[in-house]
Amino acid sequence: MFMPYILLAASVACVWTASADTFDVTKYGADPKGVKKSTDAVHKAIEAAVSAGGGVVHFPAGHYLCGPIELRSHVTLDVADGAVVKFSDDLDDYQPVVEAMADGSRQTSFATKGLISASKLTNIGITGAGVLDGQGSAWWKLVDSPYRAEYLRSMNRTQSANTDTIANRPKFFIATDCKNIVLKDITFKDSPFFHVNVVDCDGVTIEGIKLDSPADSPNTDGIDPDSSKNILISKVTINAGDDCIAIKAGMDDSKERAPTENLIIRDSHMGHGHGGVSIGSDFVGGVRNVTVMDCVFDGPDRGFYIKSARGRGG
Ligand SMILES: *[C@@H]1O[C@H](CO)[C@@H](O)[C@H](O)[C@H]1NC(C)=O
Ligand SMILES: *[C@@H]1O[C@H](CO)[C@@H](O)[C@H](O)[C@H]1NC(C)=O
Repeated sequence: MFMPYILLAASVACVWTASADTFDVTKYGADPKGVKKSTDAVHKAIEAAVSAGGGVVHFPAGHYLCGPIELRSHVTLDVADGAVVKFSDDLDDYQPVVEAMADGSRQTSFATKGLISASKLTNIGITGAGVLDGQGSAWWKLVDSPYRAEYLRSMNRTQSANTDTIANRPKFFIATDCKNIVLKDITFKDSPFFHVNVVDCDGVTIEGIKLDSPADSPNTDGIDPDSSKNILISKVTINAGDDCIAIKAGMDDSKERAPTENLIIRDSHMGHGHGGVSIGSDFVGGVRNVTVMDCVFDGPDRGFYIKSARGRGG
């Protein structure tokens, strides 16, 4: 039983030792008053870290405004205590809009990017006692939700306009096909969609983070491991508008998908949400070897929630 901790600890060490140098985003032009968008400055700091063979991209205390951020291998984003990074709620920052399959139908989607995305990377992290704010309410009103009803009322409209099909919102942190991910201490709040989604990843350590969105925010799942393995989730606090943790393994059963396996969830607190720990609804590749221990669930509608549908793993 104790082997997995040793293995996961080894992968944590790997991220930290690769990250000797620190790259302060304000030295690359980021605005700590949050007036001007710091997206380009953050990417410059990330590129500088990459050129140095890896490093920590640091946000000192302050207020920042950013468009979507793309991570690179051997880079950790570190958000200091007292730093708040708000992600732009200007939908134009998330172009291009694409056609994508969602929930079995073709929809117009902003979901080509997360607010923070990682694709085919090794040794990445997001750390620090600061706050990442997804400003999700701009997105929540695009889909059927109390936020949409309120928005339509404020616009004196009863019917939705052409935004109806723009249902696919960016996830807050989406990692696809990555190895060795560490998320530590950081707070993610008000995600447009899922907060943390790892897909086809191996080696994920999530420790001490807080995820916080209103109970009525649509589909703001906390952590969704999808076709991923060797995952430790510990000391997290989650308040979500959907499942606190939803273990998934693929939506479309016409495609071969890897299982999600070797997952430990411990010492964590699930506040409001649909399921405390859910399996499904999409698990085409299967889910196995999951341990949940020493957790408190005092808010979710259900503790454990296992759900599926034909075509999603059955
Ligand atoms: C909605 O209607 C109210 C009352 O007629 C009006 O005061 C308000 O300006 C209208 N709002 C918009 C966005 O048109
Ligand atoms: C279950 O997962 C743990 C890691 O969480 C791993 O060490 C162990 O070998 C796995 N057991 C099986 C039967 O796959």
